[in-house]
Amino acid sequence: MESKKKGGFSSSIGFVLAAAGSAVGVGNVWRFPYLAARDGGGLFLLIYLILVLTFGFTLLTTDIALGRRTGKNAWHAFGSIHPKWAWLGKLTFLVPVLIMTYYSVIGGWILKYSTIYFTGQATDAAQDSFFTNFITSPVSPIVFMLLFLCLCAVVVYMGVEKGIEKFSKFVMPTLLLLIIGVAVYALTLRHTDASGTVRTGLEGLKLYLVPNLEGLTFSRFLSILLDAMSQLFFSLSVSMGIMITYGSYVKKDVDLSQSIHQVELFDTGVALLAGAMIIPAIYVFVGVEGMSSGPSLMFVSLPKVFTSMGPAGTVLGAAFFVMILFAALTSCVSILETLVSTCMDLFHASRKTVSLVIAVLAAVSSVIICLGYNVFFFDLTLPNGNSAQLLDLVDYISNSFLMPLISLLTCLFIGWVVGPQWIGEEMEVGGAKFKQKKLYAFMIRWPAPIIMAVLFVQSTGLLHWLFA
Ligand code: PHE
Repeated sequence: MESKKKGGFSSSIGFVLAAAGSAVGVGNVWRFPYLAARDGGGLFLLIYLILVLTFGFTLLTTDIALGRRTGKNAWHAFGSIHPKWAWLGKLTFLVPVLIMTYYSVIGGWILKYSTIYFTGQATDAAQDSFFTNFITSPVSPIVFMLLFLCLCAVVVYMGVEKGIEKFSKFVMPTLLLLIIGVAVYALTLRHTDASGTVRTGLEGLKLYLVPNLEGLTFSRFLSILLDAMSQLFFSLSVSMGIMITYGSYVKKDVDLSQSIHQVELFDTGVALLAGAMIIPAIYVFVGVEGMSSGPSLMFVSLPKVFTSMGPAGTVLGAAFFVMILFAALTSCVSILETLVSTCMDLFHASRKTVSLVIAVLAAVSSVIICLGYNVFFFDLTLPNGNSAQLLDLVDYISNSFLMPLISLLTCLFIGWVVGPQWIGEEMEVGGAKFKQKKLYAFMIRWPAPIIMAVLFVQSTGLLHWLFA
């Protein structure tokens, strides 16, 4: 009943760029470089690359093949394989619902900063209090959020092929060119600070690429491993139903293994380039101690770096924020699309009607999140020790609590209830090759569920609590 035709990607490259569009997001730009700088540079990179090729590949393959084989969204896909597991589909659907409430709020912030660099206000943005003043102001964050959300809604409203595929085909290559341009420029930087010390971009690059094994203990290694793992599955947009939805739009003649590798390559490539752009830039102007996590890296530290560069910084800042705007738009489109597509199935309604209704609901919930910085302000300490406002709280529930849990349950379901060969068969449809079949079968049964369980316990703070 729910298989009402929703359209699909017209080509393999269209699918790859749309999936890469979902995967490449703010996580690649603001979290990956920060983790790499904190976790021993090249050591983190090496661990991350190994994880991409093993865990990343396993989780992405599971979602995409699950979507294509069932032709359904997460909500209906799990139940259609095994009625007793239908609840897992519904639980998975909860993740994009939660993320939708705040993703366009962040998108709005990025849009605001993009306009700043185009309207010559770059020096204002470099002031310490600028970001806080902006997000706590009553109207402006809401206006920018609504603009950002409208852009995404228009793309989703246009449909899979004419909207998402076309948009991704334009945005993703442009994003790649911009990030390569900015990264190359960052390597040519050179700056003498007040004490006369000269620092260069190439030295910064060395810091990023060379493994720093100083003081490495087993527990430190374990924590780097878990950092890399949690970054990986957030970055690939797995375990939230999004890749299941996109998988359901892929034609049977597409070679899934090849496409999955291309998506991984794109996502990892952008993350690596983001590091090669941000770490040297921060190193040259502030020193790597200036690397901070989350919003303050992008909205506080980097604007300062751009201002220190003089006039070139304004151009670079504009290129940087447009790039990340593109990354955020395609990610938000994928979240919205998952909600729209699922509701079209659930309510047997047209794309146009559902897109409008979901966009309005998303706008209302995002306004509430925006008000979390003024009207509904609170400061809560999360079980993992971080302090949180409304946005961080929702982010914590979806990313630290639900995502590892869903990943764990999906691995158990596919690995032990359905059997890895069920995915293997889909990967080999039409004579396509699935070279890593054995690796997949092993990963989905043993290492993936084990590490997901550890990650779940760790990121919820339970581990800390148990051993405190
Ligand atoms: N994968 C995106 C990133 O790395 C994040 C994202 C989360 C995208 C949820 C879509 C949905 O930033």
